[in-house]
Amino acid sequence: MQAKNRPAGDLPPIQDVLAVDKIYHGDSRELLKRIAPGSVSLSFWSPPYFVGKNYEKGVTFDEWRTMLTEVVKLHEPIIKPGGFMVVNIADILCFSDPTIPRFQAESYGANRLPVRREDILAVMAENPGANRHEIARILGVSEQTVDRRLKNNNVRGGKYAPQTRVHLVGCFLESAAYEVGMPLYDRRVWVKDPAWENSQWHSNSLRAVDEFEHLYFFWKPGITQVDRKRLHREEWSQWGSRAVWNIRSVRANDDHEAKFPPELPRRMIRLLTDPGELVLDCFVGSGTTTAEAIRHERRYIGIDKEEKYAALATKACEAAYCDRFALFSEAGESNEY
Ligand SMILES: C[S@@+](CC[C@H](N)C(=O)[O-])C[C@H]1O[C@@H](n2cnc3c(N)ncnc32)[C@H](O)[C@@H]1O
Repeated sequence: MQAKNRPAGDLPPIQDVLAVDKIYHGDSRELLKRIAPGSVSLSFWSPPYFVGKNYEKGVTFDEWRTMLTEVVKLHEPIIKPGGFMVVNIADILCFSDPTIPRFQAESYGANRLPVRREDILAVMAENPGANRHEIARILGVSEQTVDRRLKNNNVRGGKYAPQTRVHLVGCFLESAAYEVGMPLYDRRVWVKDPAWENSQWHSNSLRAVDEFEHLYFFWKPGITQVDRKRLHREEWSQWGSRAVWNIRSVRANDDHEAKFPPELPRRMIRLLTDPGELVLDCFVGSGTTTAEAIRHERRYIGIDKEEKYAALATKACEAAYCDRFALFSEAGESNEY
């Protein structure tokens, strides 16, 4: 591991340094170079996962990996000594690889479910407005079965699609951070709702449904404040010192496809920073991290390459300021008595 010695010429000219408490529209690979050196106490982010979301269309696997590696490395100069970069990411569960042998399942028993398309249509008629999940529950079958029957596609598991394998991603994040002198300090698991729709495999594959993600804590060597008063005693035992965090996923991803549940950045901010410190999210999306930073009296910088998400995050920050001022004035009023 090699800590980078930064030549003075690498510093951004003072007029280019990003002001704090703002959301920026642009590419993190450019904008991270303009953050004041040693200023960020916590950078918490979740990048595209290379799973085909709209905001990652047209990007190849190599381009995606290079982008993430660059972003990780650009953190070394801007994180303050003793501070953290925490990355939330999932492994790629269906990485297409035509070079590997096809998984050959031999199915035993009467595994052809007796549910027909007509049965599903009848349940839909009896339960207008019921979603696919509810219909599956009523019939006692999986959502995939409902989907296959409705689409008249009774071939299990995409018989003609290329074979897929699981591709781990933590290893290349770890190598990139280690190379610039930021060792992996801790790792936790976020257990979310089971995401049946994202698991593109079928009931006789033996694969598990997608229901957890990783939280990788990288540390920049230096003095770290460890203040036990940041959390209550019960919070330390329930999650502060626990490796598994159970937090429900966001139910309505109507304005952004992959939002954090607010509890996730809230925990990270309260565990790793003090009020007044700077929190960065360089893949800010709908602005969940920056809004939580405001609600907990931290400073923030948010970055997103999509203009519509930078605007959405700005709105989320405005709403968070309103919440904070409302709390502040309630407290002020009660002090008058
Ligand atoms: C997984 S989402 C983050 C969602 C966010 N945590 C939230 O709670 O809404 C990833 C975001 O990264 C943005 N993005 C992708 N590549 C980027 C890049 N090179 N620079 C900045 N933002 C990027 C996408 O537009 C997307 O909004």
